[in-house]
Amino acid sequence: MVSKNVQDLMEKMTIQEKIGQLIQLSADFFQGDNVAITGPLKEAHLGEAALYSAGSVLGISGAQTVRKVQKNYLKHSRLGIPLLFMADVVHGYKTIFPIPLALGASFDPQVMKTASATAAKESAAGGVHVTFAPMVDLVRDPRWGRVMESTGEDPYLNSVMAKAAVTGFQGTLPLDQNHIAACVKHFAAYGAPEAGREYNTVDISEWRFREQYLSAYAAAIEAQALLVMTSFNTLFGVPATVNQHLMRDILRDELQFHGVLISDWDAIGEIIHHGVAGDLQHAADLALKAGVDIDMMSFAYAKYLAKAASLDPQIEQLINESAQRILILKEQLGLFTDPYRGLSTERETEATLTTENLDAAQAAAEQSMVLLKNSHHTLPLNTATAISLVGPVADTGDILGSWSWQGDPDQTETIADALAKQFSNFTVMPGTQYHHVQFSKLNDAVNASRQQETIVAVLGLPASESGEATSMTDITLPAEQLTLLRGLAQLNKPLVTIVITGRPLDLTEVDALSDAVLLAWFPGSRGGAAIANVLSGRVDPSGRLPMTFPRNIGQVPIYYNAYNTGRPISGTPADDENKYLSKYIDVANSPLYPFGFGLSYGDFTITDWTLSQHNVTPDQPLTIQATIHNSADHAGTTVVQLYTHQQVGETVQPVKQLQAFKKVSLGADQTQTITLTVPYDQLSTIHSDLHRSTDQGDYTVMLGFDSTCTASQPFTVAHQ
Ligand code: NOJ
Repeated sequence: MVSKNVQDLMEKMTIQEKIGQLIQLSADFFQGDNVAITGPLKEAHLGEAALYSAGSVLGISGAQTVRKVQKNYLKHSRLGIPLLFMADVVHGYKTIFPIPLALGASFDPQVMKTASATAAKESAAGGVHVTFAPMVDLVRDPRWGRVMESTGEDPYLNSVMAKAAVTGFQGTLPLDQNHIAACVKHFAAYGAPEAGREYNTVDISEWRFREQYLSAYAAAIEAQALLVMTSFNTLFGVPATVNQHLMRDILRDELQFHGVLISDWDAIGEIIHHGVAGDLQHAADLALKAGVDIDMMSFAYAKYLAKAASLDPQIEQLINESAQRILILKEQLGLFTDPYRGLSTERETEATLTTENLDAAQAAAEQSMVLLKNSHHTLPLNTATAISLVGPVADTGDILGSWSWQGDPDQTETIADALAKQFSNFTVMPGTQYHHVQFSKLNDAVNASRQQETIVAVLGLPASESGEATSMTDITLPAEQLTLLRGLAQLNKPLVTIVITGRPLDLTEVDALSDAVLLAWFPGSRGGAAIANVLSGRVDPSGRLPMTFPRNIGQVPIYYNAYNTGRPISGTPADDENKYLSKYIDVANSPLYPFGFGLSYGDFTITDWTLSQHNVTPDQPLTIQATIHNSADHAGTTVVQLYTHQQVGETVQPVKQLQAFKKVSLGADQTQTITLTVPYDQLSTIHSDLHRSTDQGDYTVMLGFDSTCTASQPFTVAHQ
């Protein structure tokens, strides 16, 4: 239903004004008090008119600035159509939550929802209308720096998290002033670049795309995400941004997406490099025909659509459709009623960096940390223990992670400062920088550690080494840091390594040298306090891996829901005797740490589990009751995970597929019975005709605490 207001505007608007709505400019076009004509306009060969008709801007925020820019813009807008402000608000605005990959590790959609709702509230008060989030690209390759923005390798976990993020950002529609519109990205399959190299070709079959990659985007759209962003990569041989099959057939027709489709930055211009358009005019034509409503920064629409529309009524019609979709979005944001969405500096101050927001960020960090190793109960530590705190990340605020442009590392409490509030006796000596070692300092750190009882090494990478354009081919820790760790390990004292990273790393040597390994990701504004709480045992680290951690880079891509080959290994010694199996001759097939893995301070077992019935039908979901027991003498939290496998399918089936999970917290010696349900439709798979349906036949269900679980029970599926 198109409102009267939008219909009236559409009637009054000139074609030039309609095209204006389709153009997004960056913040630097709007610099200065009077939205002056500055360098960028000239560089882009655009006139002043283009500036004042541009429908949206990216990267401007701050209540006062946004008010000023909007006011000035409206003075020049003939029909008083407000400017739309978009920005990358990814894992927080001023209060920074752990990176999205860590939020995925929480295995708790409520954590993602709270993070997104908090980011929405703060950024809405800072004048942002639309966030370029969530990024729901399925990722399997830690060489790709943007894995930090995703929630990992699993279609089901990604879908659950995508939904939670969209609902967190948007609330329930219609949007209120504390929420912002979500833009799910990057459509599609950007997370599968060849060799993990940024912006590289993606070439997966449509079968595989539908089977594994599509569901998280679909979940976000089902949750009513108001925008979608195209991806830079090619898919099925055509750049996604101009791929009509992807955008028209799949996105618009199948997924029933009626919102605004925006290109990624200059993605329309890049079609020329892809070799699918001869020039920018051609690229504009292809993008519009694919259904891209907003051109982010290629200027193709600004320069060529008017002429194209005068020659071709189909182009004019497409411009009308896009302009209308953008006006509808502005209306959904309430901009025609209040172009400032209630902005004031008072509201901005009150809404940002509140105790409530910071506490929520800390809780999220605590829930997303993954304990990877804990020999002889090294952790938790007694708060009176004499600790030597070392490593380049021990005393820096660089723990926010990439995509936190409004977060301030200088104002962020360091891990050392946070530990000082709980541990009474420790020294801090970094020993090395991230990449640069001074041997005298390294020796000082090792010598200082000699005097202490326990060593805590905080190692990892700076924020600048994950996120966009940070692909890397070596995922071990920098050599300097490993040298330090080796020196420390020789002291034969309890050695705890905390890893700060935005991507899975090869931690084989770290694991071998350390007694305990805690993966803290980039834990955000209150990451230090969260780490202190985990080290002291005030909270149980309850994150579980959302991506497989390989033994070395050569295993990549490695993921749990793989297919059996015709020559699978059996996992028994017999494998060694048979050369002609699907395996490596230099390393095991298994990863260092599997998907879903993470230890707890509790000691959990599944004492009993039963299926409500062994036959699943459209009316009778797979329902499992499981009794979980914590035999430790203190509380703990675990994640119970349910996987299924279809014995025989028309197409190959993954060895295991996550279908449900539940985070369970239990006190000492406590028991709880939980129920997990998998609807019939969720057991569906893509067939060779590319359609999705649930097959009749024999299946197994597996239950456990990570993706290596083997306890299984059979069930069958029938159509009724
Ligand atoms: C390029 C990135 O790929 C995209 O994720 C982001 O939203 C835009 N730049 C805008 O910053």
